[in-house]
Amino acid sequence: MNKIIECQALNYSYQNNKVQTPVLSALNLVVHQSESLAIIGESGCGKSTLLNLLGGMSRPSTGKVMVNGFDLSQLNEEKVTLLRAQHLGFVYQFHHLLKDFSALDNVAMPLLIRGDDMQTAIKKSSKILADIGLQDRLNHKPAELSGGQRQRVAIARALINKPSCLLADEPTGNLDAKSAKEVLGLMMELNQQQKSALILVTHDMSIAKQMDRFLTLKNGTLI
Ligand SMILES: Nc1ncnc2c1ncn2[C@@H]1O[C@H](COP(=O)(O)OP(=O)(O)O)[C@@H](O)[C@H]1O
Ligand SMILES: [Mg+2]
Repeated sequence: MNKIIECQALNYSYQNNKVQTPVLSALNLVVHQSESLAIIGESGCGKSTLLNLLGGMSRPSTGKVMVNGFDLSQLNEEKVTLLRAQHLGFVYQFHHLLKDFSALDNVAMPLLIRGDDMQTAIKKSSKILADIGLQDRLNHKPAELSGGQRQRVAIARALINKPSCLLADEPTGNLDAKSAKEVLGLMMELNQQQKSALILVTHDMSIAKQMDRFLTLKNGTLI
């Protein structure tokens, strides 16, 4: 099975002025294609920091992060951005949709950015939104959608490029129980259909248990 994500002896400290805050230490991780993994841990233990490193938004202090076999430390900023756009999808606790754009335009955006023509982008985006039950909400702006619907649009946008791995940082943290269940079900369904890996950060044990496996981030490392 292909390794989608691999961390080797990962260390990370925040460095602000002269203050160093160590967060991750000697962390190893391998995630394969199609696998779903939950990462749990107390608030402030470094879960978001880890996802930022996996996505190449920040660079390790020492150690390695590999995405689809590419060592991120060997790539310049531009190549990392490209790798991220091609191989990774992100979902956050807050949806980060563009507020002045419709659901359809938000989902189409990554396709337009990578160079698809408008007609193709609209066709693919309408299909994925219909697949997740939002066919009647294509022209709604984020403010005109419920919290759960917004998060479903955010998931559609993250998955429209068929990434090898979806990185989700407390994606249901801001939703009521019913919407949380729907959004989680959707991510798991797409994980299975598209055979993409899913790495989900949560502090909800009942969610963590629904993944293939879960790891706890503690003292800077995964156990
Ligand atoms: N920009 C930053 N500068 C310094 N310390 C930070 C910064 N961002 C986060 N931290 C610290 O790093 C630790 C891990 O943060 P974070 O990864 O956001 O935790 P989690 O997502 O598990 O709640 C926390 O103790 C936090 O205070
Ligand atoms: Mg966090």
